[in-house]
Amino acid sequence: MNDTEIRRVPAALRGIVADTEAMSFNMISESKVGALLAALAASKPGGRLLELGTGTGHGTAWLLAGMDVGATLDTVDTDETVVAVARRHLGDDRRVRFHVMDGAVYLQQAEPGRFDLIYADAWPGKFSHLDEALTLLRPGGMYVIDDLLPQPNWPDGHASKVPVLIESLERREEFMTVRLAWASGLMLVVRRAS
Ligand SMILES: C[S@@+](CC[C@H](N)C(=O)[O-])C[C@H]1O[C@@H](n2cnc3c(N)ncnc32)[C@H](O)[C@@H]1O
Repeated sequence: MNDTEIRRVPAALRGIVADTEAMSFNMISESKVGALLAALAASKPGGRLLELGTGTGHGTAWLLAGMDVGATLDTVDTDETVVAVARRHLGDDRRVRFHVMDGAVYLQQAEPGRFDLIYADAWPGKFSHLDEALTLLRPGGMYVIDDLLPQPNWPDGHASKVPVLIESLERREEFMTVRLAWASGLMLVVRRAS
């Protein structure tokens, strides 16, 4: 099996990738992660999804591709410049709401137990405000993170933070976790029904 062959790619992706390259944004997620996000999103019919770190909309496009018509996606980023790319290519989809604000503030204001799937791809909700993010998951809800294997854009000192995050997730009794040393390195964390 060659898992780089990804056949069903969202229509908006070509334009998003072109615009991302043109603006030299180097934090875009990879296609394999996108394909997984789409499959996970498809497992949540009518679901409420949250993406922390919209970037230029790569993950957003994949999540939308997997979602059914009744599902909704809130996506949060502080940087209006990159969000403008996502809006340009995905803004006509009525299932998505863009929030240009600090993810930490969004997490503090959101309703506990609201979400079925969270793709946490920004600092808040991952390396900070982890409790606040996990509180938003309903039973059966999934929390997904990537970039857990060494990445070229990691700043100095970042590598030591990753095992601390993994340990913090794995010691929580109310979640089932799995490490995926695949693509950029992922973890899936699922809130157990009590
Ligand atoms: C890894 S990129 C997101 C990539 C995107 N999810 C994708 O699939 O291509 C991280 C994003 O987090 C955003 N960000 C940085 N600090 C943030 C904060 N405090 N709250 C929300 N977003 C933040 C950055 O502007 C950047 O777009």
